[in-house]
Amino acid sequence: MQEKERRNSAVARAGTSPAALLWRLRLRAAGVSLAAVAFGAAYFFVRQAIKDSIWRFDLYLFNKALAVASLFLVSLSLLLTSIRFFSRRPRRGLAHRKHFGLAGFWTGAVHGLVSHVFLAGKFPLPAWMARNPLAAGLGLAALALFGWMAVLSLAKIKGKMGGERWRKTLRTAGYAALVLAALHAASLKWGSWTKYLSTFESVLPSLSLPAVLFAAAVVLLRLFVRAAKKH
Ligand code: HEM
Repeated sequence: MQEKERRNSAVARAGTSPAALLWRLRLRAAGVSLAAVAFGAAYFFVRQAIKDSIWRFDLYLFNKALAVASLFLVSLSLLLTSIRFFSRRPRRGLAHRKHFGLAGFWTGAVHGLVSHVFLAGKFPLPAWMARNPLAAGLGLAALALFGWMAVLSLAKIKGKMGGERWRKTLRTAGYAALVLAALHAASLKWGSWTKYLSTFESVLPSLSLPAVLFAAAVVLLRLFVRAAKKH
């Protein structure tokens, strides 16, 4: 179904104006982002208390919550496309895709900014980049791709590119950026994950571990749906 018809039927179902529907979608995406950041913040706080007996919440923990929430939101956005294959109401949830993706991009951008501007003592530039060239390159590449997708998602660009090409470009860029972001997290947290899995010392793993596993499951599901559609 064409995007315009899809939007009109969503408007008809919601019984509201297109502008009100757009704001409802934006607010819902903002609500899910806030909930993801709040959950991440609480998780990292409890983990630090159990692991190091430190009962303190600071910008360092908040930044971790932003990073994990960003990965979760872009994974969720891409998941909505694949689950429509299994759903009896395939169009349900599709309207949220773009807004969750945009929320993930902005949360990731704030995470990059907080890391190197407000936590410059911990992650000083350019020394941090020189020490972690792979992680820095992967994070910047993922953020640049998500930013490019945010520009592409504008309606006038869609009109210029044509619906099918536009959808395919966004899908390819989305999965490529998700893989880059997951590799960025893996290159920084690999040591923490393997330590946790070999000792279970900290009781709770870094939240980046389940977040990256979720991202990997979303990519695998997409590969499965692609193969199933070919048969
Ligand atoms: C959308 C793009 C991005 C995503 C999804 C992302 C995600 C993540 C994740 C999941 C972690 C692990 C957090 C933890 O458990 O400690 C992380 C760590 C980190 N990222 Fe990113 N990141 C992105 C872009 C960037 C950019 C552009 C930079 C800066 C160049 C950056 C700098 C860092 C730093 C310094 C850490 C280490 C934080 C710590 O150890 O507390 N990230 N990122």
